Amino acid sequence: MEKTKLMSLAECKIVDLPRINDPRGNLTFIEGGQHVPFDIKRVYYLYDVPGGAERGGHAHKSLHQLIIALSGSFDVVLDDGMQKGRFHLNRSYYGMYVCPMIWRALDNFSSASVCMVLASNLYDEADYYRNYQEFIQARNQ
Ligand code: TYD
Repeated sequence: MEKTKLMSLAECKIVDLPRINDPRGNLTFIEGGQHVPFDIKRVYYLYDVPGGAERGGHAHKSLHQLIIALSGSFDVVLDDGMQKGRFHLNRSYYGMYVCPMIWRALDNFSSASVCMVLASNLYDEADYYRNYQEFIQARNQ
């Protein structure tokens, strides 16, 4: 992998999703390629997360993701090997876009929170770096 093509923390950003406000209840929608910079191939969600738990703790080689606090709140900690950032997600109309080759952890989950993740590809264990040192080595190659 060429160093110049590696995406950094600067590419990860909070996406402000469309909101249709209505006295009957608000509505947000997400269209692949429109509101997220990738086609959506998979959706998964975390729920019943016990207090104090940490999820994530890995990086992806080529997967793009959008992380949304559908309910409640939690923190997303991102690390590109040079810079780290902690982002608090607490609204269902904000998404955190995470590009490939970024180490991420999720913590500080509130009770009854739901974390929905939109992903650019199907689940593939071969796409993961689960060891931080291996991730750093791959970034420095
Ligand atoms: P993992 O990605 O490590 O969870 P998180 O990053 O949220 O902490 O996945 C946990 C387990 O679930 C692991 O055994 C792989 C499995 N899994 C799937 O089978 N399909 C999926 O889409 C995901 C995200 C995980």
